[in-house]
Amino acid sequence: MSSSDHVKVVEVGPRDGLQNEAKRVPTEVRIALVDALTAAGLPVVEVGAFVSPQWVPQMAESDVVLRGIERKQDTRYPVLVPNLKGYQAAIEAGAEDVSIFAAASEAFSQANINCSIAESLDRFRPVAAAAQAAGIGLRGYISCVLGCPYQGAVPVADVVRVARDLVAMGCSEISLGDTIGVGTAGQARETTAAVAREIGLEKVAVHFHDTYGQALANVIACLDLGVRVVDASVAGLGGCPYAKGASGNLATEDLVYMLDGLGLPTGIDLDDLIIAGEGICSYLGKPPASKAALAIAAKRKS
Ligand code: HMG
Ligand code: MG
Repeated sequence: MSSSDHVKVVEVGPRDGLQNEAKRVPTEVRIALVDALTAAGLPVVEVGAFVSPQWVPQMAESDVVLRGIERKQDTRYPVLVPNLKGYQAAIEAGAEDVSIFAAASEAFSQANINCSIAESLDRFRPVAAAAQAAGIGLRGYISCVLGCPYQGAVPVADVVRVARDLVAMGCSEISLGDTIGVGTAGQARETTAAVAREIGLEKVAVHFHDTYGQALANVIACLDLGVRVVDASVAGLGGCPYAKGASGNLATEDLVYMLDGLGLPTGIDLDDLIIAGEGICSYLGKPPASKAALAIAAKRKS
């Protein structure tokens, strides 16, 4: 691992985190969260999702959030779009980066977006073409890369195939999601390496959930491969509405604490990040699911 390597942390809390909270978070609180994350120096803050409000009510009014945030010049503010309708609404609200999201498992694709993997890719093609024509940034997610809540094991070849198709459409980055947080380090390394061989390491991002406490170990395994884009969610908010039992994402505070310790620069101020996490957690009425945030807060008080 080279200690001079910058790691891009993609903050997904305002989307992946809040989409799974039972308590609906008002737009002004969502805007304040994004602004606090911007202030903490996150280079990418995923703001919301232009999906059906019947399917994910927590992400309704993502247009209001996107219009309300204070943008910093060098910060990117992507949003999720499941189809052209979502893409058009996102662009009207000022999105400059969008993410499409497919699954590596058929059953999860049906549960999450109500269609097969092949149908979802067909649905994404016009979105990707429109984004490319308009110079809009395009990221692709793949869910369930290390296991599926319905089918169990997911063959590596299935992950690789979806990654290849998303890159062929024009995605510049592919986020490999262990949506239910079941994977361990060897498996994370094997799957990530196989995808990197197919699409190039520079296009690979990793997205771990911490259900079994393996997220940081999985990140280390992928950093060792040379991956330099890691998704995380402030205060460990999150889960997935279509993956029962999935606990939160890897907490951004824990990730940044580890990367600071490894000497891998991120540009993120850990204290400001902890303040952002405390803000949303005090609204939600629960403590941050980040050990680093809790430890640093306790030290601050003593
Ligand atoms: P559907 O019911 O099959 O779609 O849903 P439809 O085309 O038949 O439309 C049904 C209704 O939704 C219609 O309204 C549409 O207009 C409306 P009605 O005529 O009944 O009033 N609709 C929309 N409304 C707003 N925005 C849109 C939109 N599209 C249609 N974009 C659909 C298909 C894809 C829309 C639906 O299944 C959906 O929105 N799913 C989203 C699921 C989701 O957001 N899941 C969480 C994100 S993925 C994730 O968390 C994993 C990830 O984090 C990686 C990881 O963690 O590993 C990325
Ligand atoms: Mg996720």
